[in-house]
Amino acid sequence: APLRIDVITIFPEYLAPLRAALLGKAVDRGLVEIGVHDLRSWTHDVHRTVDDSPYGGGPGMVMKPDVWGEALDAVCPAPDPEDAGGRAPVLVVPTPAGRRFDQALARELAEEPRLVFACGRYEGIDQRVVDEAEGRMRVLEVSIGDYVLVGGEVATLVMVEAVARLIPGVLGNPVSASEDSFSDGLLEGPCYTRPEVWRGRAVPDVLRSGNHAAVDRWRRDRALERTLRRRPDLLDALPPEELSRADRAF
Ligand code: ADE
Repeated sequence: APLRIDVITIFPEYLAPLRAALLGKAVDRGLVEIGVHDLRSWTHDVHRTVDDSPYGGGPGMVMKPDVWGEALDAVCPAPDPEDAGGRAPVLVVPTPAGRRFDQALARELAEEPRLVFACGRYEGIDQRVVDEAEGRMRVLEVSIGDYVLVGGEVATLVMVEAVARLIPGVLGNPVSASEDSFSDGLLEGPCYTRPEVWRGRAVPDVLRSGNHAAVDRWRRDRALERTLRRRPDLLDALPPEELSRADRAF
């Protein structure tokens, strides 16, 4: 069955890229289904109000629980009681105050049959929306990094793209997902294509040597070197058995 992704937002047009390029093709080919919903369709007042001032004071506005509650009731179906293996969707709430999104979480989400993304704007969504939803489904408050965006829409695009490329059939070349940065806990090293010399810069000899073991060793060393320089935290987090004797020699 295709992965079903629903997004609830006050800016449905912001999610248009989901229907473009690689993701659009996955939708056309029936590998992924995407529904984008306007939060304001669950308002009942003439102004279509989705926010209000925060209890306790302070700047900004907070998104109202009643509107979000109706939206989630409509978009997140309860699991079918006839279907023993039926699972409730996972609700993903993008927020800079969430747990950090990473490749491991992308892999986990790619195993799910249904994901619902609840995009907040302003200062956030009334916390009771998340607390109440936790009673009936898995809820993840997730941050894509330590910086603050205006809302959850772009964070949703980032996460959906990272998840969708892991779905079998979405990428043209299935090995590329398993060999890229993070699959072995290291950053990818540099890559090259023709011409052999470009603006006086030659492609490293070893890559043209035809010696596959030497190429593998060279690539591994460049990955280690780059990771050490740019992301020493990733090396610290690597289980010791992931580093061979040759790796340590590097
Ligand atoms: N909303 C605003 N900033 C965000 C971030 N860094 N990650 C996820 N959602 C956000």
